Amino acid sequence: MNVVILAAGMGKRMRSRLPKVLQPIAGRPMLDHVLAATEGLSESPRVVVVGHGADAVKEHLAGAEGVTFALQEPQLGTGHALRQALPALNPADPKTIVCLGDVPLLSRVTLDRINAEAASSDLVLLTVNLDNPTGYGRILRDSTGNVCAIVEEKDATPEQKLVREVNTGIMCLPTAKLEKWLSSLTAGNAQGEYYLTDVIGLAAGEGCRITTVQPDHVWEVEGVNSKVQLAALERVWQRAQAQRLLEAGVTLIDPARIDIRGSLECGRDVEIDVNCVFEGKVKLADGVKIGANCVIRDAEIAEDTVLLPFCHIEGAKVGKGGRIGPYSRLRPGADLAGDNHIGNFVEVKKSQVGLGTKINHLTYIGDAEIGAGTNIGAGTITCNYDGVNKFRTKIGNDCFIGSGTQFVAPVEVEDGATIGAGSTISRRAPAGKLTLARVRQTTIEGWTRPVKLKK
Ligand code: UD1
Ligand code: MG
Repeated sequence: MNVVILAAGMGKRMRSRLPKVLQPIAGRPMLDHVLAATEGLSESPRVVVVGHGADAVKEHLAGAEGVTFALQEPQLGTGHALRQALPALNPADPKTIVCLGDVPLLSRVTLDRINAEAASSDLVLLTVNLDNPTGYGRILRDSTGNVCAIVEEKDATPEQKLVREVNTGIMCLPTAKLEKWLSSLTAGNAQGEYYLTDVIGLAAGEGCRITTVQPDHVWEVEGVNSKVQLAALERVWQRAQAQRLLEAGVTLIDPARIDIRGSLECGRDVEIDVNCVFEGKVKLADGVKIGANCVIRDAEIAEDTVLLPFCHIEGAKVGKGGRIGPYSRLRPGADLAGDNHIGNFVEVKKSQVGLGTKINHLTYIGDAEIGAGTNIGAGTITCNYDGVNKFRTKIGNDCFIGSGTQFVAPVEVEDGATIGAGSTISRRAPAGKLTLARVRQTTIEGWTRPVKLKK
């Protein structure tokens, strides 16, 4: 099976500098969704037809496996686009499936269905019946019910416009016929384009067996031509994700207010409050509760951890039983062992935090290793950066760090040490002792405030 993805169109209706097929659904370019669905379908490389914004599309796909490009310049329609792909096809593959770069949510299940149908048919069309078919090509059938042509909306008679069965644009064609059919297309239509859809009339005229299959969900075949449609399909996709989570037993306070831009894996009894965004690969273990308005990207959150509202978590691991937030920020490399309290306006980056350690208020911990059972006071800062180099701070087990402390890294605090509030620590603080590094308080006798002179 050859696979061709048409992605050369300009997407005028997007009114954007970004090529249409790179516009994102669920945080990923539409084209990436199509590539994911078609992965492994073809033994030969899949052919992406590029044209408008070709450089951007090629750059985006640089290094992608099993993909080759065909350039369509200028863009004269979907039939013309497929024709440009012909030299890149494997003639030994009897069938060629065409997908559209702007129909992003097509599922693998549907592709397999088309593939199976193609075994007993010359030409397979993926069609759907729509209550409102406006904008789509209509499927025309003869008196015996066989498909005989497709007519585009702009070329359709008022009678043809009443047809509700539409062309999704996805079809499977006989490879050997393509050269002949595509070279005989003409552009004598309302849009002055070479329509791929005109091939259907040609095939029917030759007595080819043309059959149709349907997808499980209409949203799989919704085409995106404008930001309006992009936004609408995004919501449809998100609703489907929410449905999947609910069916798996996750509690969503409002399934209309969750956004998953990647994959979200949840254990049992997970609860997610409103307006949370999940990006990349996120895993939430059993009993995790996510408060409202959290943004979580590429993170693993272990059992029974509670995230209070407004946390921002990226590239972090949170051990079990944690209580994080509100307003905590865990950045890449933050690794919390478990039973940790991380409070408001605390930022942790590239640091290990031991079991039961608490960092509750207004603190920056970067490039640090903190042991278990330590308490970090409010306003603690690891000064890890000299403008060029990064240095590490090491704090042991059972330490007590007074509020307003700065650690000028590299520096070490040994187990059981106590640091007096307001200290600037730049040398080793020994185990089990109180270390202070601040100016002794003095009071100036006889001092008076300056007085403003009246003019
Ligand atoms: C097309 C179909 C229509 C179908 C609809 C489904 C044709 C003539 N019409 O219409 O029957 O109902 O899709 O969504 O095929 N492209 C190119 N080169 C071009 C023109 C388009 O590569 O010269 C690509 C576009 O990037 C896009 C796809 O082909 O990914 C479809 O093109 P578009 O202009 O969106 O066609 P529709 O009007 O949506
Ligand atoms: Mg389209």
